[in-house]
Amino acid sequence: MSTHLDKFSSIASLLTAGLVFCIALSSSLTATSERPNIIIIMADDLGFDDVSFRGSNNFLTPNIDALAYSGVILNNLYAAPMCTPSRAALLTGKYPINTGMQHYVIVNDQPWSLPLNETTMAEVFRGNGYRTSLLGKWHLGMSQRNFTPTQRGFDRHLGYLGAYVDYYSQTYEQTNKGYNGHDFRDNLKATHEQVGQYVTDVLTDAAVQEIEDQGSKNNSQPLFLLLSHLAPHAANDDSPMQAPEDELAQFGYIRNETHRYYAAMVSRMDKSVGKVIDALARQEMLQNSIVLFLSDNGGPTQGQHSTTASNYPLRGQKNSPWEGGLRSSAAIWSTEFERLGSVWKQQIYIGDLLPTLAAAAGISPDPALHLDGLNLWSALKYGYESVEREIVHVIDEDVAEPHLSYTRGKWKVISGTTSGGIYDGWLGRRETSEEDPRSGDYEDLIRNTSVWQQLQLVSAGERNISELRDQARIECPEPATGIKPCLPLQAPCLFDIEADPCEQSNLYEEYRNTTIYLDLWQRIQQFAKEAHPPNNKPSDPDCNPRFYHDEWTWWQDEQASSSGTTGRMKIVTFFLGFVLTSRWFL
Ligand SMILES: *[C@@H]1O[C@H](CO)[C@@H](O)[C@H](O)[C@H]1NC(C)=O
Ligand SMILES: *[C@@H]1O[C@H](CO)[C@@H](O)[C@H](O)[C@H]1NC(C)=O
Ligand SMILES: *[C@@H]1O[C@H](CO)[C@@H](O)[C@H](O)[C@H]1NC(C)=O
Ligand SMILES: *[C@@H]1O[C@H](CO)[C@@H](O)[C@H](O)[C@H]1NC(C)=O
Ligand SMILES: *[C@@H]1O[C@H](CO)[C@@H](O)[C@H](O)[C@H]1NC(C)=O
Ligand SMILES: *[C@@H]1O[C@H](CO)[C@@H](O)[C@H](O)[C@H]1NC(C)=O
Repeated sequence: MSTHLDKFSSIASLLTAGLVFCIALSSSLTATSERPNIIIIMADDLGFDDVSFRGSNNFLTPNIDALAYSGVILNNLYAAPMCTPSRAALLTGKYPINTGMQHYVIVNDQPWSLPLNETTMAEVFRGNGYRTSLLGKWHLGMSQRNFTPTQRGFDRHLGYLGAYVDYYSQTYEQTNKGYNGHDFRDNLKATHEQVGQYVTDVLTDAAVQEIEDQGSKNNSQPLFLLLSHLAPHAANDDSPMQAPEDELAQFGYIRNETHRYYAAMVSRMDKSVGKVIDALARQEMLQNSIVLFLSDNGGPTQGQHSTTASNYPLRGQKNSPWEGGLRSSAAIWSTEFERLGSVWKQQIYIGDLLPTLAAAAGISPDPALHLDGLNLWSALKYGYESVEREIVHVIDEDVAEPHLSYTRGKWKVISGTTSGGIYDGWLGRRETSEEDPRSGDYEDLIRNTSVWQQLQLVSAGERNISELRDQARIECPEPATGIKPCLPLQAPCLFDIEADPCEQSNLYEEYRNTTIYLDLWQRIQQFAKEAHPPNNKPSDPDCNPRFYHDEWTWWQDEQASSSGTTGRMKIVTFFLGFVLTSRWFL
């Protein structure tokens, strides 16, 4: 009974959303024929609690905060828990299980990619007259030239193709295989001009340049810009934490060096957000731009590539099925929004951004794309929160560690987990005794940023900063249903994520025989059954950058056209590798 009502109300809200959207679209199209510039600034591995608009005073992010309070804080933006699946969902508007991108990430030495028959968001926007640019990280495949950004809908790419690079040398070192090479390109050409410069600044300058070109051209072609930062992801294992001296100098009050570097890495990225908005303001492009800031997944507090990132008090972290792996600290701004200066609690999936931003631009994606993402533009524009969202966060049928994470409305199901459960706790609680000295004058600091001032110029309005900051803070008292442990390796867990965002009260035992739970479980099984098999492929030693002038490159193409010398080198190395790894010699 209750499930029928649930279904009815969700259909009703979808219909309302659709209707309001149609009205909104027709009026906005008649009002102006100018399509908005879309500016997406994406952080890599930034934790949910690593932006200060959520209440932390440990280190401040005044520019991101000013954007958040001026715009709409996205309190329930869900991404996938790792880079590759998350970026695949962003760019295709589909669940990773439906594109084969659900398992782990593309390691640089592996020959696989986002399938070539999938359409990217960049292709959708370019196909509708946008100029498209990716600055920074790609991480959706590079072993063939066809896999890379300029072949997947981006007119321009400046950045790296793999998982991450050194902030200064732009090299990627795969320690377990001894591969080491440079990974930074200007479109298809390797470029070394940036060596020695801090990558966050390189990408910021390129974004500013892009915006200035756009402004000075003053043409009718709007800009779709994805500024895909390295920050604050860890660099190579031998030197994971890297930040410029002047940035570090601001955080002398943080005694632990790793924590101090992390604050500086985040802070430099925060300045990038400021510079991008300043450039939009200078070019008088703000009025006609949508600016979105988000992280690709939760922060890694522990384990591989950990940076001291914090998702506290959310449970878990990057590469785990919990809220701490999935919820992205995010905010969006546009003069189109009716409720600027608010916290929006509507659940929104990273894959909803394609249809949502497309709608903002008056683009209707081809229905043949079969998107999983929903168009939430009118809900966002008018600020309502009533669309019941179903989200398949993860279904990974990996034989070693099968796990799943799924939400419908307030219900969340988790079964299985990653890394034997070592990320399943509440990690990264910060030393409260260390406070950014600027936090005493927090409101003044925010109002003094040029982000705040520029956005006020084009969308003036009272904003109650302390109230917004309180609303965006997650607090987790003991839920009314009590603390009930979840052991996801033993049995599935069920949470009421609205009442219990920190996943403290496992309701599985009470609900396991009810239609509520059985319906959710059946739905998950259906998704699992229809899932695309994972595209992952094992490491290919032909990738070794030493064959290609120490560059990470599309080795499958290079190999096909390789010269005799490279060929002979490969044979020798292959033979050596065989000798070293073969069990016959042990
Ligand atoms: C792409 O091809 C795969 C099989 O090769 C298929 O399963 C999938 O549905 C195709 N995707 C699209 C968008 O056509
Ligand atoms: C751009 O073009 C519009 C209309 O064509 C004009 O009003 C505006 O002044 C131009 N801006 C610049 C910076 O040239
Ligand atoms: C600094 O912080 C890191 C990460 O939280 C921790 O592993 C390390 O032990 C700390 N170092 C000192 C000297 O306390
Ligand atoms: C804000 O700017 C004013 C005027 O420039 C200055 O007096 C004040 O100290 C600044 N406050 C903060 C917190 O930066
Ligand atoms: C902002 O909100 C807080 C708490 O809701 C309230 O106490 C305060 O008076 C408000 N400030 C302004 C300037 O409205
Ligand atoms: C649910 O069903 C199982 C198996 O039939 C049974 O062991 C369990 O006691 C039931 N739980 C509840 C809360 O009814």
